Amino acid sequence: MQIFSFVNQKGGCGKTTTAINLAGALSAQGRRVLLIDLDPQAHATLGLGCDPGDGPTTLDVLSGSSSLSEAVVAVAGGIDLVPAALSLGEFEERAEHSLRPEQALTHALRGLEGDYDEVLLDCPPRADGVLTANALRACDTAILVVETGAFALQGAVKALSIFEEIRACGDSRFDMRVLATLFDRRTRFARDMLFALHSRFGPLLFESVIRTSVRLREAAACGVPVQILDKRSRATNDFAALASECLVGSTDSVRGKDLAPTPLPGE
Ligand SMILES: Nc1ncnc2c1ncn2[C@@H]1O[C@H](COP(=O)(O)OP(=O)(O)O)[C@@H](O)[C@H]1O
Ligand SMILES: [Mg+2]
Repeated sequence: MQIFSFVNQKGGCGKTTTAINLAGALSAQGRRVLLIDLDPQAHATLGLGCDPGDGPTTLDVLSGSSSLSEAVVAVAGGIDLVPAALSLGEFEERAEHSLRPEQALTHALRGLEGDYDEVLLDCPPRADGVLTANALRACDTAILVVETGAFALQGAVKALSIFEEIRACGDSRFDMRVLATLFDRRTRFARDMLFALHSRFGPLLFESVIRTSVRLREAAACGVPVQILDKRSRATNDFAALASECLVGSTDSVRGKDLAPTPLPGE
């Protein structure tokens, strides 16, 4: 079971969009996928058309009052989801009174061994806090999601150093990868930015790039992953490529590859 988390202390860079649609792409490739919403804003839950109502949520799982399998809801695209609600914010307060609250998710995931091929963790927009700490502790790979907009390179370098520092201080052992999103190849600016990310991060940067696509916004509004809305869209293709890359394996398997920048999508 491979566990991926989607991180960046910045909001709006595409973490949730990546978590939902990578889950959809993996599922379309026949993988058994679980997506856990770890953000009290519950955007992954909403974006998959789920209303947890009175049912168990991520808060119940982290607090130990529900197992992960009890909290799972089947949503569109063949994805299993553990939904979040605003109340997840309470876990921060409760954590002050518990022993090792950052290990709650790791413990809960032990009960799932063998049930899923991939588990995806959608994190809140912060580097600190007990929810992100749970994700970093539980995951094999933390994917830093970077919008290819202004100051992308500076933002990504800073964010990567923050998460690497967290890894060095704690006893988490995750690999870091970087994913470029919201890429608009029509602008020279974005192309230069992608080139700079490639030069700076080399094999840590996924070769797959998620382009800007209105289909992704439409899919979220409809509560489905983009593969269900339009299986021929470029967003569907981008996430299929990312899914294949994730399945190739850990950073070790891409280390040592040719570091020359890859052609930009569509070129
Ligand atoms: N590749 C993309 N193309 C178009 N819109 C996108 C793309 N990625 C994200 N968005 C939109 O940008 C906004 C922020 O994305 P989101 O995934 O919620 O970011 P985060 O989880 O990092 O806060 C959302 O409205 C989302 O629909
Ligand atoms: Mg989000």
